[in-house]
Amino acid sequence: MSAVLQQEWHALRDLLPSLSISGMFDVLCERFTGAITFSTSFSNEDQVIIDHVGRISDRIKVFTLDTGRLFPETYQTWAETVAWYNITIEAYFPEASELEPYLHEQGPNSFYRSPEERKTCCHIRKVSPLKRALRGNKVWITGLRAEHSPERQNLEQLEWDEAHQLIKYHPLLHWTTASVNSYIRERRLPYNVLHDRGFASIGCAPCTRALRPGEPLRAGRWWWEEAGKKECGLHAT
Ligand code: ADX
Ligand code: SF4
Repeated sequence: MSAVLQQEWHALRDLLPSLSISGMFDVLCERFTGAITFSTSFSNEDQVIIDHVGRISDRIKVFTLDTGRLFPETYQTWAETVAWYNITIEAYFPEASELEPYLHEQGPNSFYRSPEERKTCCHIRKVSPLKRALRGNKVWITGLRAEHSPERQNLEQLEWDEAHQLIKYHPLLHWTTASVNSYIRERRLPYNVLHDRGFASIGCAPCTRALRPGEPLRAGRWWWEEAGKKECGLHAT
């Protein structure tokens, strides 16, 4: 099964340079009917992608991982996006059976104590629900961008995701922040207002702050941890 899918991935990589985002979506929809899903955190890049998906949302599923610790502004963007495109966004929440004992034992803010504690929280609130969200899919679309970190500069726009055994597509991998922002501005799309307050990359509220002048784009994520290791495990390969 995955060998066949890997062959499809090779063929699609050859096609990629000649296709627009919508063109690629059409090809994916033709080949993988009912098995394509887009993950959104309602960041500006995700809003650009949803603007492409919104028109064909009967063919591409959309989901978000509601960690339970998102900013009020993110929930607001979620609500506005559903209303704007009249689409369904599936929500995946942490399993109570994992989260409740963790909270009883470690309290609500254990992520500040050590990288290990932080990764445990990310695992329960993000990585584990992600597995459920991706189940049964063959293509996972994300808003990852190369500009966000040196590690992301090494990504391919169309990847084989060994961990989840599916094809991963990052349509905006090579877009700049300026082009993402102007796409949203020109079309007056709904967006997370935290971006206007200095937030570049937006995750959970207790783990994200606005950037200070000159800081790299992911400096506001888990800012108390060593730079260069700012991943939560969603995109581990
Ligand atoms: S993270 O790994 O550090 O959290 P980042 O915030 O850069 O990821 O977002 C990159 C992409 O990961 C987003 O464009 C989106 O596709 C996916 N993603 C991140 N957080 C979520 C979330 N809470 N729900 C759904 N998808 C998410
Ligand atoms: Fe937990 Fe923070 Fe990870 Fe969110 S980003 S899942 S609150 S450690």
